[in-house]
Amino acid sequence: MKSFKIAPSILSADFARLGADVDAVLEAGADIVHFDVMDNHYVPNLTIGPMVCKALRDYGVTAPIDVHLMVKPVDRIIGDFLEAGASYITFHPEGSDHIDRSLQLIKSAGCKAGLVFNPATPLHHMDYVMDKLDMVLLMSVNPGFGGQKFIPGTLDKLREARKKIDESGLDIRLEIDGGVNTKNIREIAAAGADTFVAGSAIFGADSYKFVIDTMREELAK
Ligand code: DX5
Ligand code: ZN
Repeated sequence: MKSFKIAPSILSADFARLGADVDAVLEAGADIVHFDVMDNHYVPNLTIGPMVCKALRDYGVTAPIDVHLMVKPVDRIIGDFLEAGASYITFHPEGSDHIDRSLQLIKSAGCKAGLVFNPATPLHHMDYVMDKLDMVLLMSVNPGFGGQKFIPGTLDKLREARKKIDESGLDIRLEIDGGVNTKNIREIAAAGADTFVAGSAIFGADSYKFVIDTMREELAK
């Protein structure tokens, strides 16, 4: 098992002072910045794009930026995120007509690539592209909004994904996204996740450090 990583979703950050809020969450101990891109087409919400990713880099953010594309089609916007300083780019199989090609596009620029699975999307889409994956992201809510409740069936799906990854022997992170909090993170880790996205649980708290420290304590139990 790899080291656990905590990836606050800036969907719940203060967009009016985003640089300072990202600094604050990194100072509080976050490992990765989770960057939710929504296009009002693949999902019914509209958020931020490559310009904001580049602005965070220009502002001085050096932590990994994990770009979660809830966008259809994905290929046209991938190049812009590669130039904007993304560290990971993940996309939903439903957003690409040619999954292998989209993964190659991401990898060709030296960026890490991943696939994202909605609660009802089967895992078999990863089977023939495992060698091109650095990340598998399981959605534990339907994508589009922060603050939703964790769907419990995702735990079985995590176990299934963990098995596939372990059997492959490849170096692939298993990320979970949606409804993660200090109360359920331990159970989620036990099911196989090693990377934890949390939006409202962290940015909705008075002390980001308290939440992140509590999450790490739970993970260490
Ligand atoms: C939902 C996004 C998530 C979301 C998580 O579509 O992909 O990253 O911001 O937010 P919480 O942790 O509040 O469920
Ligand atoms: Zn996300």
